Amino acid sequence: MTTRTTSTYQNLLLERSGAVTVLKVHRPDVLNALNRETLAEIEDAARAFIADPEQGALIVTGSGEKSFISGADINELAVLGPAAAQEISRFGQRVLDVLERSPKPVIAAVNGYAFGGGCELALACHMRLASDNAVLGLPEVSLGIIPGYGGTQRLPRLIGTGRALELMLSGGRVKADEAARIGLVNRVVPKDQLEAEAMKLAQAILKNGPLAVSAVLEAVQRGLQGPLDAGLRLESGLFGILAASEDMHEGLNAFLEKRPARFLRK
Ligand code: COA
Repeated sequence: MTTRTTSTYQNLLLERSGAVTVLKVHRPDVLNALNRETLAEIEDAARAFIADPEQGALIVTGSGEKSFISGADINELAVLGPAAAQEISRFGQRVLDVLERSPKPVIAAVNGYAFGGGCELALACHMRLASDNAVLGLPEVSLGIIPGYGGTQRLPRLIGTGRALELMLSGGRVKADEAARIGLVNRVVPKDQLEAEAMKLAQAILKNGPLAVSAVLEAVQRGLQGPLDAGLRLESGLFGILAASEDMHEGLNAFLEKRPARFLRK
């Protein structure tokens, strides 16, 4: 499989390995903190990934040895007035929404510190793997602010209200094992195997029918926004729509004919 590295961004490193894009946030001087420019680059790169028919899965990670993303860039936050603070919060939320709403899977490979906006970015990804040196948390209250890139909403949905409030109100930090125990990350892997494990997960997903994968993402992400009844209707609707696809017939027939399926995304 060929790996191509591109570097059209100031603060991101992008690698394409077959159908998997690896996006690394790269701001070594500040442990990959997210300033506005980096958020804009992430939005641009995520939209390009979504639009690229050759790309099927995205892995988001941090460059370097010890940090995924250390948070929003505190240098930028420190000079914001009320209107600008609200605006940067809305902007960050919009960028992370692009990741969450991606019709193709997005995996966070949390390879070290994931605080504040970094933890929030991981929360917006569809799945999270963590290295054994990862530490996660939403310490905003210790700075006199609150999580502004979706953390107050996504964390309780993921790990439950009580645990989320404990983390957010104490400003506490959890190590990888504890993060896995409370469901904040799916699992922990040795640091030097994290990217390979994320790649393995991406490849396992890519073997499946791409329209079905997108439909699961839509059913789960959109379904969770509303009541169960609406989610069940959405699920049935998507189930029905897939029956119009060649891929569904290919997948079912391949099983019956005892051969691997050849999905064509149609
Ligand atoms: N924004 C801006 N700069 C940051 C940053 C952030 N979120 N996190 C780290 N940095 C900078 C530090 O100021 C330091 O810069 P310097 O070399 O000019 O002094 C550099 O990155 C290295 O950080 P340092 O604190 O020396 O590394 P460390 O390994 O001792 O500690 C952390 C790492 C992540 C524990 C610590 O930097 C930290 O607590 N950062 C803030 C985390 C946070 O509160 N995030 C939420 C923000 S809303």
